[in-house]
Parts: sequence; structure tokens; C-alpha cells
Amino acid sequence: MSYSVSPLNDVLSKYPEEHVSAVLSSFSCERDKEVELFLREKAIVQEKKQTSRTYLIFDDDAEHLLVAFFAVAVSIIKDEGLKCSSRMLRKMNINEGIAMSYLIGQLGKRDGGAKGLGTFAIERAIGIIVDANAKVGCRVIRIDCRESLIGYYESNGFTLVRSNKEGNLNLLVRIIETGSVPA
Ligand SMILES: CC(C)(COP(=O)(O)OP(=O)(O)OC[C@H]1O[C@@H](n2cnc3c(N)ncnc32)[C@H](O)[C@@H]1OP(=O)(O)O)[C@@H](O)C(=O)NCCC(=O)NCCS
Repeated sequence: MSYSVSPLNDVLSKYPEEHVSAVLSSFSCERDKEVELFLREKAIVQEKKQTSRTYLIFDDDAEHLLVAFFAVAVSIIKDEGLKCSSRMLRKMNINEGIAMSYLIGQLGKRDGGAKGLGTFAIERAIGIIVDANAKVGCRVIRIDCRESLIGYYESNGFTLVRSNKEGNLNLLVRIIETGSVPA
């Protein structure tokens, strides 16, 4: 399988918005309707407002079918209720109760998409964030998920640092371990 990743912003600069919108509306994700709704109704709005950047993953072997996507943004983490090692807390660079972070805000594959597409998307999202980190700093990546996906994100290198009783606002982080100067 061969996939290509296109920034939504680039796609919007090349094709009429109605056309792009129609492609996004063809994306279905029964497992998480919020993910589907984001791509269909919010991704273009947020792109224009510059509150997030969405990346589209196309299957090159299937007539460039839109098979998955992810969205990244910047965020903050309040230090309330964090349950993690002191090493992790130090790495999060908490200042006045707040850690700056990047956010993988949305992630989803099309119904029937190949197993492993999500991990491919996470790796690409992290690659984009690592580029931003090299230019502007900040080494924390956050992801929020429901309880059933905690293990999945842990197996993709994230650490659970806060969970809630409802099970839908679990916070996981991953630290970018790059740079020549250890800290
Ligand atoms: C999450 C996702 C991107 C992972 O894709 P992937 O890397 O190809 O991996 P899989 O689809 O095999 O999913 C990994 C595991 O998570 C489970 N899972 C995936 N989405 C889930 C969901 N919404 N709720 C509960 N479990 C879910 C899968 O059943 C699978 O479990 P298994 O390993 O026991 O079979 C993809 O499954 C997806 O698009 N899910 C629906 C949207 C979603 O939940 N996005 C995450 C929002 S935080």
C-alpha cells in the first residue's frame, strides 16, 4: 500500500472549496461520528481560522481515495490532577501551572480502512510536530481519548497522565526526545 499525505490548506488552494467539501463529505467513520463530523463540517472552518491544520491521507493505489486524516494544533495542559512520574512532570516544562503542548486533535480512518493506518497517521502527525518543535520549541504532544483507546495510544508511545471518571477525557502525552542538549 502506498499513501500520500496532503495538507488540507494546499488542497484548498488548488481546488474549488465545493469540490474539496464534497470529498470530505464522502468520508465515513461509523465508529466515531464526532471524527466524521469534524472532517465534514469543521476542518475547513478551522483551517481558515488557523486554529488547527488538517492533513488528508490518500490511497495512491485506489484512485487517491481519502482513507484517513489527522488534525494538529497547539494547546495547553493545566497541571491539575496529573498522575505521572516526576521525570515526566519535569519534561513537560510546567510553568505557573500550565504546560504548553502540541495537540493531535483528530484522527480517524475511513470505514474499512487498512489496519495500521491510524499508526501511520500518528507517525506522520508526530513528524510534522517534530518539524515545528525544531523551529519554535515545545516538546509535549497531547492526545485526548476515551478509555477504550488508552492502550492503543500507549502502544504508540504515549503515556497516560490524567484520566476522568466518565472515561472520555483521558489525557496522554508524548515527549519529543530530540535536540543535542539534554535537559
Ligand atoms: C483509532 C484508529 C485511527 C486506529 O487505526 P489503526 O491504527 O489502523 O488501528 P485499528 O483500527 O486496528 O484500531 C486499534 C484498536 O483500537 C480499537 N478501536 C479503534 N477505534 C475505536 C473506538 N472508536 N472505540 C473503541 N475502540 C476502538 C480497534 O478495535 C483496535 O482494537 P484491537 O487491536 O483489539 O483490534 C481507527 O481505528 C479509527 O479511525 N477509529 C475510529 C475513530 C477514532 O476512534 N479515532 C480516535 C479518536 S481519539
